[in-house]
Parts: sequence; C-alpha cells; structure tokens
Amino acid sequence: MTDQYFSGKTAIITGGASGVGRSLALALGKAGSNIVVGDVDKSAMAAIDQDLEAAGIPHRVDFCDVTQTDSLQGVLDGALESFGAVDMVFANAGIGAGEAGPMWAYSDKDWQWCFNVNVWGVVNSINVFMPYLVGRPERTHMVITGSGNGAYAVLPDVPIYTASKAAVQTITENLHYQVQAGGLPVVVSALFPGPHVVETGLFNSGRVRPEEFDKGVQGNETGINSVEDMKRMAEEFGINLQTTHPDEVAEMALSRLPDGNFWLLTLTEENEAKIRRRADMIINKTTPVPESVG
Ligand SMILES: NC(=O)c1ccc[n+]([C@@H]2O[C@H](COP(=O)([O-])OP(=O)(O)OC[C@H]3O[C@@H](n4cnc5c(N)ncnc54)[C@H](O)[C@@H]3O)[C@@H](O)[C@H]2O)c1
Repeated sequence: MTDQYFSGKTAIITGGASGVGRSLALALGKAGSNIVVGDVDKSAMAAIDQDLEAAGIPHRVDFCDVTQTDSLQGVLDGALESFGAVDMVFANAGIGAGEAGPMWAYSDKDWQWCFNVNVWGVVNSINVFMPYLVGRPERTHMVITGSGNGAYAVLPDVPIYTASKAAVQTITENLHYQVQAGGLPVVVSALFPGPHVVETGLFNSGRVRPEEFDKGVQGNETGINSVEDMKRMAEEFGINLQTTHPDEVAEMALSRLPDGNFWLLTLTEENEAKIRRRADMIINKTTPVPESVG
C-alpha cells in the first residue's frame, strides 16, 4: 500500500541532508518517489546525493536556506523542471540554538537564529509552496516537522527551541483548519520526531550556524553537542536515556500519510502522561511543574 501510494510522486524535503529529513528522503525514494533535497550543509548534501544515487533514486539536491523565500522558490522551480510536478513538501529543516542558563542572559542571536530557521523557515515554506500545492488538481501533502517539546511539553532547559516549536504547532494546526475550511485538496500533517530523543545532528546544529548569528562561543554552552553527550549526562544522573533512530520516524510518517493523518506522532505512556498532566494543570490551575526531556 505504502509503495503504491508514493510511487511516481515527487517530494521536496527541506533539511533533507541529515537526520529525520535524510531518512525521509531515502524511505520515500525506496518507495518510488522522486526526491528533492534542500539544505544548507554542503558536505551532508554531497553525502545524501551519493546515497540517493547509489540507491538508484531519481533525485536532485539543491542548496536551500529556508530563511530565504527566494531560495525556497529556487527549489520549487528546480523540482518542477526536473520532475514536472510536486506532490509532497516536508518543511523539516530545524535547529537547536544551544542556549544554556537563565533566559534573561541569552544572546539575542540564539533567539533570532532559532526563530529564523524554525519559525520563519516554516512560514516561508507555507508562503512559497502552498500557492502551488492548493492549485494542484490531485491530493497533495504539506508536512511540517514540529516537536513534542513545544507542542505539548515545556522544557525549561531549552526555552528558545520549545517556544519556536510551540509556534510551529500553532501554525501547522491553523494551516490545517484553513485548508479544511476552504475544502482544498492539501493534507496538512504535523510530524513529531520521536517518541524519544532522535539520533540526529540537532544537538550539533552549530555546524550550520551562519556568521550573522555567531555569538562567539564554540559548540553549545550546555556542553551537549550530540545525542551521545546527552546520554552520558543523563547517566550521570542515573537516567537511562532512550533514543529513537530517524529511520523509525520516517517509517511511521510514511505509514500514516496515505490515510491523510494530521498527527504523525508516536506517543509512549510517559508522553501521554505529560499531555494529561499539562491539561490537568491548566484546568485545575495548579502551579506549573516542568517536564524532562525524552
Ligand atoms: N532530533 C530530535 O530529537 C527531534 C525531536 C523533535 C523534532 N525534531 C525536529 O526534526 C527536524 C529535523 O531535525 P533533525 O533532528 O533531523 O536534525 P539534523 O540536524 O540532523 O537535521 C536538520 C537539517 O536541517 C538543515 N538546516 C539547518 N538550517 C537550515 C536552513 N536555514 N535551511 C535549510 N536547511 C537547514 C541542517 O543542515 C540539517 O541537514 C527539525 O525541525 C527538528 O527540530 C528533532
């Protein structure tokens, strides 16, 4: 069913050179889709280009900075030139700013970079791709990668990231409502990588941090620059941090997309409990207590 659905379709994936986007690109390609990857990381772009080539998947890999609408428009134009049509857009590019300490001491550059990529990247993607997608006679997909960290959990260790993903969830839900209200043939979905911390490059986002947002610090101020660092730190507190492979995220997303599912989300019992605790806390007006990562 999955391969039948995806075969011959064309997908644009922003942030498709690494992590979740890379797994989506390879899984969709193996299911028969043409793949267009847009990313800013030139070495990762070269690697995914080779991987797609080796798998015999029709593809193109274009430089694309989601903070720039011209750059996104270039990816759409390239996709149309190579494959004639676009059926699915995955607005997936995202970064972690690596903030640490009290909010009032953060560098504005952390807020600006994170909101530029995570929030404006999604807004720009909506502005560039939706006019095209709503004009297609066939059913199309707009999949926006958010995060449980922001959509339903508030993590005091990463307030900037959490705030950006709270905005992304609201934007995605509102896009869905507007598309529904207009009776338009676009399926809008919210993709939540998880259910645990996903083994990707997100914790080393500094590798693609542009000079204009440089705050003069090497790596993250948290000292966490990879999932391995995170695991080690958790172990020091006696916590066995569970992780998820990005291929599992792609598999989950592809299994649900054909049904037109909005929630591309896997919940553990702990995640469900977090959602309930948050809802109860608001309804009962109890003092907020923070959740932990994972
Ligand atoms: N890793 C997790 O645990 C986790 C959990 C929830 C949500 N997410 C979300 O998943 C998405 C993918 O991230 P990932 O975890 O695979 O990390 P990743 O770092 O492996 O991949 C992100 C990709 O986005 C690209 N990128 C960064 N800035 C860009 C820009 N301005 N324009 C275009 N591309 C840009 C990077 O080069 C990279 O290839 C993000 O939106 C992230 O917030 C990740």
